[in-house]
Amino acid sequence: VTDGTSRVFPPTLAELEAEAEVAASPAAWDYLAHGSGDESTMRENVVAWTRWKLRPQVLRDMGDVRTSTTVLGIDVDAPILIAPTAMHRFVCDDGELATARAAVRANTIYIVSMAATTSLEAVAAEAPDSARWAQMYMLRDRGRTRALAERAGAAGYRAVVASVDGAAVPRRSRLAGGALVPPDTFRFPNLASPDDPHNTNLMAMVSDFDPTVTFDDLALFEEWSGLPVVVKGVMRGDDAARCVDAGAAAIAISNHGGRTLDGVAATADVLPEIADAVAGRAEVYVDGGIRNGVDVLRAVALGAQAVLIGRPVLWGLAVDGADGAVAVLHHLAEELGRAMALCGRDRVDLLTRDLLLGAT
Ligand SMILES: Cc1cc2nc3c(=O)[nH]c(=O)nc-3n(C[C@H](O)[C@H](O)[C@H](O)COP(=O)(O)O)c2cc1C
Repeated sequence: VTDGTSRVFPPTLAELEAEAEVAASPAAWDYLAHGSGDESTMRENVVAWTRWKLRPQVLRDMGDVRTSTTVLGIDVDAPILIAPTAMHRFVCDDGELATARAAVRANTIYIVSMAATTSLEAVAAEAPDSARWAQMYMLRDRGRTRALAERAGAAGYRAVVASVDGAAVPRRSRLAGGALVPPDTFRFPNLASPDDPHNTNLMAMVSDFDPTVTFDDLALFEEWSGLPVVVKGVMRGDDAARCVDAGAAAIAISNHGGRTLDGVAATADVLPEIADAVAGRAEVYVDGGIRNGVDVLRAVALGAQAVLIGRPVLWGLAVDGADGAVAVLHHLAEELGRAMALCGRDRVDLLTRDLLLGAT
């Protein structure tokens, strides 16, 4: 597949993953590839999508297939967004600035991580005309989260993504002793305390996450930023309904790519329950193990408005910087378009559960 970018893109993301492992430093690879515990949830995320079998329709006019859609009223070329992931400088010298450029070129939304190695403001300046969302955790010192939410609003971000899976620091098996100390040249301008701006001990900073946060606190993110709130890390229908009752504009189903608690269900398996519980009152997104366009089709057919892509974007960045990340996004969108044509549905909003065996 050629992408109009500088190199020939490998035919599958699995091959790109293998190239990325070679391109990345061993420390960076351990960090991005690992999951928690035995990594069973991480593996299951990938496998669970494949259990949903397609029931294609034929003999429909597929002369004009379009993957474009909207998320929170924002036009995107495909229902494929960039998940918030930490430390893009670990895989690419330009770090989050490269990701910002990739998002513009793929016309999608980049969700900037609280643990980014670039400030929200610098990412905004790199891609001023694109839509960006800012991910954050509630910190024990809530004033720091408030300051970040205010910065997101001021810097033109379009939503706050409040991650709610941080009640305890996860155990990550591949990292020596479960700990990680990034290179001391890194800075965390969205996460580090103003009292300690040069702190590079990400694991220590992660223990600043507030374990007492509840549904009642969700409104604070909107109050502080003036932006709609996406709640990321929901895995049950009842929780999703409570988030919507508490004012969430969207729910992002996620088990953090299998990086928090091993043994948690695959996101593909809980998506139908959550979509039913939300019942159109908010948008639903899903991430975890989405590795090809058919997985994107499955997710949308099961009720997701869009998917978030985590590791594959990092593989693209590791192999070829912004060009690599664009290639990943284009590759997934192109596969989605082909899968739509072969399923007899030419618009994203026509992807419905009857396309999947046993899903109705
Ligand atoms: C290296 C890495 C760093 C991550 N950092 C964050 C983060 O800072 N905040 C967050 O909400 N999620 C974070 N995540 C989780 C992703 O947003 C997403 O839920 C997950 O990667 C999706 O699974 P996938 O990698 O299989 O696509 C991270 C994931 C990875 C792989």
